[in-house]
Amino acid sequence: MHPDLSSVLLTHQQILERTAQLGEAITRDYQGKELTAICVLKGAALFFSELVQQIRLPVALDFIQVSSYGKSTVSGGQLAWLKQPEFPVAGKHILLVEDILDTGFTLWNVRQKLLGQSAASVKICTLLDKPARRKVPQIQADYAGYTVPDAFLVGYGLDYDEKYRNLPYIGVLKSSCIAPEEDGAAAAAETK
Ligand code: IMP
Ligand code: MG
Repeated sequence: MHPDLSSVLLTHQQILERTAQLGEAITRDYQGKELTAICVLKGAALFFSELVQQIRLPVALDFIQVSSYGKSTVSGGQLAWLKQPEFPVAGKHILLVEDILDTGFTLWNVRQKLLGQSAASVKICTLLDKPARRKVPQIQADYAGYTVPDAFLVGYGLDYDEKYRNLPYIGVLKSSCIAPEEDGAAAAAETK
């Protein structure tokens, strides 16, 4: 285990097994539909690449990147788009793939934008769901890997200050590795 972690929450094997189940459910639900899976960079990149291999249907892959303004371990409400979808979403069935659903602000904003561009449907697939911190109750995961406690998690795409994304498992970051809360006004943009 990485020395900055207090525990491992999900092993690589657990992540792979659950991802295969999610891929099966998505395969069943999207029979006969034109599916586009959109990865929310960068956190979802590792989960996305495994998930799409478990979807036994034709699926177009696209990528978006957004950043929120706020403290580095807390998601803020404002969103800046760093990368727009490459393909037009009008008429497409969109599956948004996220690493973790926390307050819900990110996916609420993203979903509104895609629905505004006339997507046929927008569903959410997240590896981790942290319902205790939800602030936007309209945002629920259509597919969720694991419900997780309110702790700051890293690994398998999830970062703290761009570190730990490449760990093959997910663990709880020690509080001693988290910088004291920054002043809100001075906080820099957080890349997802
Ligand atoms: P939301 O807008 O609050 O739902 O933010 C979701 C985003 O916040 C995720 O895509 C992550 O980038 C980040 N995030 C939320 N919780 C964690 C965590 O425990 N570890 C690392 N990143 C997190
Ligand atoms: Mg992040």
